[in-house]
Amino acid sequence: MDKYIINGGEKLYGKVDIQCAKNAVLPLLAASVLTDEPVKIRGVPAINDAENMLGILDEVGCKIKRQRDCTVIDSSNAASPEISTRLTKELRSSVFMLGSILTRFHRAKISYPGGCDIGLRPIDLHLSGLKKLGVRIAEKDGYIHCETDKLQGAEILLDFPSVGATENILLAAVKAEGVTVIRNAAKEPEIIDLQNFLTGMGAKVSGAGGSTIVVEGVKRLHGVEYTPIGDRIEAGTYLIAAASCGGEIETKGVFPENIAALLHKLRENGCKIHTKNDKIILTSNGRLKAVDLVETMPFPGFPTDLQAQYSALSCTATGTTLVVENLFETRYRYAAELKRMGADITVRGRVAFIRGVERLHGAFLTAGDLRGGAALVLAALKAEGESTVANLYHIDRGYADFEDKLRKLGAKIRRIRV
Ligand code: EPU
Repeated sequence: MDKYIINGGEKLYGKVDIQCAKNAVLPLLAASVLTDEPVKIRGVPAINDAENMLGILDEVGCKIKRQRDCTVIDSSNAASPEISTRLTKELRSSVFMLGSILTRFHRAKISYPGGCDIGLRPIDLHLSGLKKLGVRIAEKDGYIHCETDKLQGAEILLDFPSVGATENILLAAVKAEGVTVIRNAAKEPEIIDLQNFLTGMGAKVSGAGGSTIVVEGVKRLHGVEYTPIGDRIEAGTYLIAAASCGGEIETKGVFPENIAALLHKLRENGCKIHTKNDKIILTSNGRLKAVDLVETMPFPGFPTDLQAQYSALSCTATGTTLVVENLFETRYRYAAELKRMGADITVRGRVAFIRGVERLHGAFLTAGDLRGGAALVLAALKAEGESTVANLYHIDRGYADFEDKLRKLGAKIRRIRV
């Protein structure tokens, strides 16, 4: 398994182009089976999660062509409503396929999804939403068996604004008979992107970005050519890196309103931030003051996907930071690794107390999940001396060209292929 060797202590300077958002691209790929006509998605990032999703589409019977920066998915011969465990165990987003496969075939069989081990991650909200739309569901031998005679629009109130459940229900509702109303829907920018993609295919969806989404079922959807939004979590990761190490970087491709909660905290830390359209310019002297409290929330709150990276930054900020993780139960596994570098962190359930230390030192570190892995890289960039970060396959799930982009900013990082 590949590993990084990182020599910390360099300031970061320069520009970084942000990839299309992983969490936008995955549901769009799932949505491509809703039509017989070719769907073209530009800028699918070279990350393992996207590769796995394309593998699932291949198994369903779609033809996939890569034309330069454009991925073309032709689902005209899609024939299989079953997805094997081999693919679903790697990728939690495989569960989005339920909505689109049901729309296409009126039945689906899929094993329980895998993905990052960051908590229990139940899918009860997905399944109860689908039931409301007229799907019969049986869970047997680790598989979910779904069947419907007809998808029928319904009123669905989500107990929690789940991103995945909102997306799955949307995918099952676009061609259902009648109107579907999703209340307490997730408001993440990636939901707006899915709405834009679906309306580009001829669907009638409105309200995304707010808590009520209305879907008027249509008979037919057609092909579409689409460029997904930029990855706010990737942009946030580089901004946190520069804030922590010091320097000046410009990210291009993410609108500041999509990571306003992070920018607010980084300003409190003492960074200077200027924004213009989809550019964010951050300047930091690398000596930050701790903020009192960071609490993860659904959008527009502080994103759980930046909690680990921000905690890494807080390890060397002056003062104590209280971090509360409200979304996932076990998203602090990286903390034990940071302690090996000299970080002073106490974790109690969903809360982490981080007392800033003068400096971190290099260590041998093992990535345990995607964002936790990125956090270890950021800590190693800040630390004195050499660090190794192992198990890079976690990081490769979500960051394309991570080491190249960091190296261009001046980081001393290299990948050892094993
Ligand atoms: N939840 C339930 N029941 C459900 C669904 C969710 O209880 O049926 C709970 C979860 O256990 C969790 C909370 O609701 O406590 C939020 O989960 P949500 O469904 O919103 O998350 P998700 O759709 O599984 C997406 C992203 C995650 C990101 C979360 C929250 C994708 C592919 N994944 O996951 O991204 O953390 O939303 O913003 O869109 C990542 O990129 O590293 C990542 C984990």
